[in-house]
Amino acid sequence: MKIISDIQEMQLFVRQAKEKGMSIGLVPTMGSLHEGHLTLMRQAKKSCDVVVTSIFVNPTQFGPTEDFAKYPRDLSGDSEQAAKAGVDVIFHPQPEEMYPAGYSSFIEINGITQKLCGLSRPGHFRGVATVVTKLFNIVQPDKAFFGQKDAQQVLVLKRMVTDLNMNVTLEVVPIVREKDGLAMSSRNAFLSPEERKAALVLSQSLQLAQKLVNQGQVDAQNIKEQVILKIKQEKLAQIDYVEVYSYPQLENLDVIGDKALLALAVRIGNTRLIDNTILEG
Ligand code: PAF
Repeated sequence: MKIISDIQEMQLFVRQAKEKGMSIGLVPTMGSLHEGHLTLMRQAKKSCDVVVTSIFVNPTQFGPTEDFAKYPRDLSGDSEQAAKAGVDVIFHPQPEEMYPAGYSSFIEINGITQKLCGLSRPGHFRGVATVVTKLFNIVQPDKAFFGQKDAQQVLVLKRMVTDLNMNVTLEVVPIVREKDGLAMSSRNAFLSPEERKAALVLSQSLQLAQKLVNQGQVDAQNIKEQVILKIKQEKLAQIDYVEVYSYPQLENLDVIGDKALLALAVRIGNTRLIDNTILEG
């Protein structure tokens, strides 16, 4: 497995692979790899000749008071795991390589970015869309792999790919969870043992919602209130948002009929975690 940090070297590698007729799969990550990322990589390996994973903690998607500086970084551990998952190349540019002095271009998606994480993290999706566009331009993947845990990110990137006629297929892989239900996240590493237990309230409240829907409770507002009540019972948890929207349109809805996205962002101590599920009535 190769580690490339230079953009031109990455582009040369891609050109040579394409000349040999090889298909390219890209798994964009910010590193600190866990089973969720590794699942994306294994999936990429199944359908692409060459798998590139980017490991880049992207400064433009963090707000000024967010955890950019302390975001976990572990290139040597990540390299070992990525190699085992079948990755051929890690693309690991430095921030100055991606955003040199004078950098001024950004991608903005309207509409669906004006809710959920887009509201609590202003500028976040602008940073995500910008870096993903740059990665697509550099790596020119046939397919790019993303996790459903970032449900809104997936919808934003699908919108971008459609609107800007990008020649790449987005593959979405289901949420990977720990045995007890906690969704895998690099930020789980910040949780103390007590917080780790408290964090179960996210997945448990999603399960509660699906149970209520299965029992015939399809009033979206009522489901939302029950989820809020459940989370409030956990003293270490502080709700950022709990929302139920139509899926994939992300519009307000009264009744959970076909498909609805229940999405949560909850702070456990100082760590902000997200989780979601698709409810079906
Ligand atoms: O999902 C992530 O880890 C990041 O938002 C991504 C897609 C790698 C862009 O920095």
